[in-house]
Amino acid sequence: LLKDGTKEYNLNVQEGIVEFLNGSKTKTYGVNIDFLGPTIRVNKNDTLKMNVKNSLKEETVIHWHGLKVPGKNDGGPNRSIHPNDTWTTQFQINQRSSMCWYHPHTHEKTGEQVFKGISGLFIIDDEDSLNLDIPKNYGIDDIPLVVQDRRFDTQGQFLYKQSMHDTMMGVTGNFSLINGIVDPYVKVSAKTIRFRILNGSNARIYRFMFNDKRAFYQIAGDSSFLPKPVKMTTLLLSPGERAEILVDLSDLAGKGILFGDELGGKPLLKIFVKDEKAQKYEIPKKLTTINEYKNIIEANVREFELNIRPGWLAINGKQMDMKRIDEIVPLGKTEIWRIKNPQRMPHPFHIHGCSFKIISRNGNKPYLNESGLKDTVLLLSNETVNIAVKFEYESTKKYPYMYHCHILEHEDAGMMGQFIVK
Ligand code: C2O
Ligand code: CU
Ligand code: CU
Repeated sequence: LLKDGTKEYNLNVQEGIVEFLNGSKTKTYGVNIDFLGPTIRVNKNDTLKMNVKNSLKEETVIHWHGLKVPGKNDGGPNRSIHPNDTWTTQFQINQRSSMCWYHPHTHEKTGEQVFKGISGLFIIDDEDSLNLDIPKNYGIDDIPLVVQDRRFDTQGQFLYKQSMHDTMMGVTGNFSLINGIVDPYVKVSAKTIRFRILNGSNARIYRFMFNDKRAFYQIAGDSSFLPKPVKMTTLLLSPGERAEILVDLSDLAGKGILFGDELGGKPLLKIFVKDEKAQKYEIPKKLTTINEYKNIIEANVREFELNIRPGWLAINGKQMDMKRIDEIVPLGKTEIWRIKNPQRMPHPFHIHGCSFKIISRNGNKPYLNESGLKDTVLLLSNETVNIAVKFEYESTKKYPYMYHCHILEHEDAGMMGQFIVK
């Protein structure tokens, strides 16, 4: 804490070594630690000063995924930090309570640097998150789950991109990690538990569920609480997306349950419930009010088509070019962005510098659990999604914002564009 109330953070992007598999020392990257990085917790209206030191032997940069900050603070590829240099950036938090995250955005190397371990959570609190009667004891009944998958070579080293297939399908792995741990477990009380889930994988899409198929409630998405809890039994989450869920485990005292992936079929997390008296709890009926993007009349429509052909990934027929600005977007005006995926491969589309609202999915209402604010939206095959979006800060030719597919190998291969807001 500085004298004027600014909160200062020192983030050192460094090399590390971790034993993920018995007897092998895996070379990793991390932020202040060997793998992944600390959770940053701030309040709405806080002013932050981030000192990002690059202690790697290659360029890197840290992007604040989900934060509404001006282009110059955003940490896009144009902000690349040389080895041994420090990037200092200062900004104010001006958005709703949500779980955002940070990760590198290095030109054509984002996928590899995230795979090696540079990622961390960035949690914002506001009146909603502080006042709601929901579990908030961090790590006890309010548990973050950073879900990622990795593959290793015979030496126990990370095995990153190997072939054209990896570029096209994205890099996936046969080991799943939660918070950097292979084969993780957690012990909780016999009560309702809140899990804050980040799909921090490079390319894998999960459909999360419990092995007894019990219902749970989603209470928040990427950038805000949902208006009301949404009851569900499976949760589809693509790379870059976040969800918060509440699950009642009060019937399981002395027993256990598995949290897993319906698509992948393997348990991701073992949950042991303590043998103690069950605690009853009622989920609030109402969580928040979304006033943003109401009554949109006469908004400019901007179209984005996601293109994929063997060895060529693009948006609107153009591959990412750091020297080209693809769109100029007016500051403070709500627009409709229409994102089209005319092909089979699913793509999570992410936009910097904003929280948007999904207006329609294939001409229908969006899913109930995407009725809050978001910054990443999954497009399955042949889907078209309309979103309402407004930018409250400028981005410049020197430090433009990005829109891109959050399958990191797609992003690195050119499925990304740059835009100015003015
Ligand atoms: Cu999470 Cu442009 O990234
Ligand atoms: Cu981002
Ligand atoms: Cu993609």
